[in-house]
Amino acid sequence: MEELKGLKLGYAICGSFCTFRKSIDEMRVLAGMGADIYPIMSDNAYSLDTRFGKAVDFIAEIEEICGRNIIHTIPEAEPIGPKKLLDVLVISPCTGNTLAKLANGVTDTSVALAAKAHLRNARPLVIGVSTNDALAAASKNIGMLMNSKNIYFIPMSQDDPIKKPNSMVVHFDKTPEAIKCALEKKQVQPIYV
Ligand SMILES: Cc1cc2nc3c(=O)[nH]c(=O)nc-3n(C[C@H](O)[C@H](O)[C@H](O)COP(=O)(O)O)c2cc1C
Repeated sequence: MEELKGLKLGYAICGSFCTFRKSIDEMRVLAGMGADIYPIMSDNAYSLDTRFGKAVDFIAEIEEICGRNIIHTIPEAEPIGPKKLLDVLVISPCTGNTLAKLANGVTDTSVALAAKAHLRNARPLVIGVSTNDALAAASKNIGMLMNSKNIYFIPMSQDDPIKKPNSMVVHFDKTPEAIKCALEKKQVQPIYV
């Protein structure tokens, strides 16, 4: 996608560990399209080993794709605002926890502060939801963010309506299209697929 060439793209990952594989694969696709990616991870995403893999392995892979170190602390995230570092910031996967922080102005993690710092420059923030409570506790936060300036969503679906009726997961492969629309100040449609 031509629009992504040379784009200064922040790509933040929160602790939805089961989606790391797909998110990192999409990061590689975006790099292949010529995006200049600044990787960001929440403290939890950066440090926790889970049954889905070891933190050190994910970190090494992401840094290899992007060719730079991962922003994972509050002091590293803060300059995103004053330096106007990013054209667009993607948070995908975005957890229920980080959605709650974003919707309520809480900025005590690297990802939440990156979002605040970036939004102060009135530039687009693109969110990819991945949480079991998207249609429960997180739904009011998603609704608030959908009704907020400069915030857009990557299309998402219920991933298992029978066993996890409140769960929704982003379609990572729709990230480039969502970014392209967000740069034009538009929400890609449909949001729910
Ligand atoms: C194995 C594992 C998988 C998880 N998957 C998710 C998930 O898909 N979505 C979610 O919202 N939280 C998930 N969590 C919980 C979050 O990691 C937790 O809420 C954490 O505080 C998120 O922090 P962050 O938003 O700063 O990354 C998972 C936790 C573990 C240990």
